[in-house]
Amino acid sequence: MEKKWWKESVVYQIYPKSFQDSNGDGIGDIPGIISRLDYLAELGADVLWLCPVYSSPNDDNGYDVSNYRDIMPEFGTLADIDLLIKKAHEKGLKIVMDLIVNHTSDENPWFIEARKSKDNPYHDYYIWKDGEKGVLPNNWESHFSGPAWEYVDELGQYYLHIFSKKQPDLNWENEKVRKEVVEICRFWLERGIDGFRMDTINFISKVPGFPSVPGKSGLVRGHDFYMNGPRVHEYLHGLYESVLKDYDIMTVGETPNVTPQIALQYVGEDRGELNMIFQFEHMLVDSYDGGKWNLIPMDLFRLKEIMSKWQKEMDGGWNSLFLNNHDQPRMVSRFGDDGKFRRESACMLATMLHTLKGTPYIYQGEELGMTNIALDSIDQYQDIQTINFYHDQLEKGIDPEKIMAKIHYRSRDNGRTPMQWSDEENAGFSSVTPWFGVNPNYKTINARQQMNDSNSIFHYYQKLIALRKKNPVVVYGDYKEYFEDSHQLYAYSRTLDDTCLFVFLNLTGSDADAAIPESLQLEDPSVYISNYGRETFTRSLKLAPYEAYVVIGKIRS
Ligand code: GLC
Ligand code: CA
Repeated sequence: MEKKWWKESVVYQIYPKSFQDSNGDGIGDIPGIISRLDYLAELGADVLWLCPVYSSPNDDNGYDVSNYRDIMPEFGTLADIDLLIKKAHEKGLKIVMDLIVNHTSDENPWFIEARKSKDNPYHDYYIWKDGEKGVLPNNWESHFSGPAWEYVDELGQYYLHIFSKKQPDLNWENEKVRKEVVEICRFWLERGIDGFRMDTINFISKVPGFPSVPGKSGLVRGHDFYMNGPRVHEYLHGLYESVLKDYDIMTVGETPNVTPQIALQYVGEDRGELNMIFQFEHMLVDSYDGGKWNLIPMDLFRLKEIMSKWQKEMDGGWNSLFLNNHDQPRMVSRFGDDGKFRRESACMLATMLHTLKGTPYIYQGEELGMTNIALDSIDQYQDIQTINFYHDQLEKGIDPEKIMAKIHYRSRDNGRTPMQWSDEENAGFSSVTPWFGVNPNYKTINARQQMNDSNSIFHYYQKLIALRKKNPVVVYGDYKEYFEDSHQLYAYSRTLDDTCLFVFLNLTGSDADAAIPESLQLEDPSVYISNYGRETFTRSLKLAPYEAYVVIGKIRS
């Protein structure tokens, strides 16, 4: 297997709006990020992925870009981002930026032009359908509720928006659009960034004709017609050949709705497309029918099955490992226990992410075990998807309490509360009331407290990262699963040459008996990491709730 820096790295994801406010306006910003670089270096992160910082009217917090070559004034200036890149590099940290090119903002000059007339040179930058007002071109539902089409009276046409109506989809069939994207990439790469996280990148090719999902009434998710579409690989390979391949960078695509086999078409080492993708199969373990709001009870056995499947089937590709991000609930609240066993379960889940094969991603605050938030009223929420969902459900006659319960569990705002830096006012995030509510538990869950506590989740992450750097087996070792049928344990080994790492994770809040299989004999075995402070090697043991017990040794042949 080819050695690459991005395989050996740990990525830290920053949601700039909620990371650190530097100028007292309640909104996180780039100088704020610069002021926290030492913290990130101390944690051991190698790469910082910034959620979008481009000019944007913020209908979807920056995922609606109005100018790809400038910075949102709330976040700073181009000079600030240049300084961030420079300072980060000085500390050995790389910078990866979000690239949002499935759609733009409706306030992007391209769209402002495009909607002026059918013969405007920019009209064909977007996806239009002639039609009559009130007769939708097809039955696709937007990811943010309501139809995926918006009518423009002056043109007598609909435009496609898979996300909000302020996020019109770009028309990648148009070669000019593809060239624009190449130039945007080059602009940022020349500024010195180290890669891209490509937003909803498997949406860029739509099935010609935009067919309705057959046999369904009402609005439905039309993903089979716009995800992994007919020309997506041609487009991505083109982007790689035209610009990406000229730089030593990492690329990670956001691609819902993929199997490992489909994923390999994007990341296979001989494909010339992307380095990694984010797959979302494991983000659907607590819902049915692929719909994020169709909630069912969490099934951690299913989680383990999915994680393991991706380990086994991504042969010739590379996994990205994550359990939360800015679109998902907090990992410890969702997959662990954010009450009694918050520390233990957060560390156990972290152990999984940092010992499986792939590149681990940490979402800001995860390293502190930050938790979900449950706000009383919909008015306190900020996320467009959450707010639209609430009103859509209300219109459908659903009991508001039931809607709020779903929102508490699943809303993207769970992950967007301000970073908890200290127990000072506003969690040390800002000197004024922040743009979005601080989680009241910041008094006990915060970075300052954890940095002073050698037993904290922060220090556990720091140790996991440091160990990864010292032990190539964690990066390059082969994966093998044990006790596949166990509903309590997730057990696997990683082996590289004669070195073996053996991992036991107790996925549950009850004790679990565990023993390293007899077939595996280790010489000079020692404890690699333990979230219960175990220091001596033992073959068999009773794992405590959410215990992670990892050993390392040489294989005795
Ligand atoms: C991705 C982003 C999400 C955004 C959407 C539309 O899923 O992660 O935050 O709303 O794309 O750009
Ligand atoms: Ca600010």
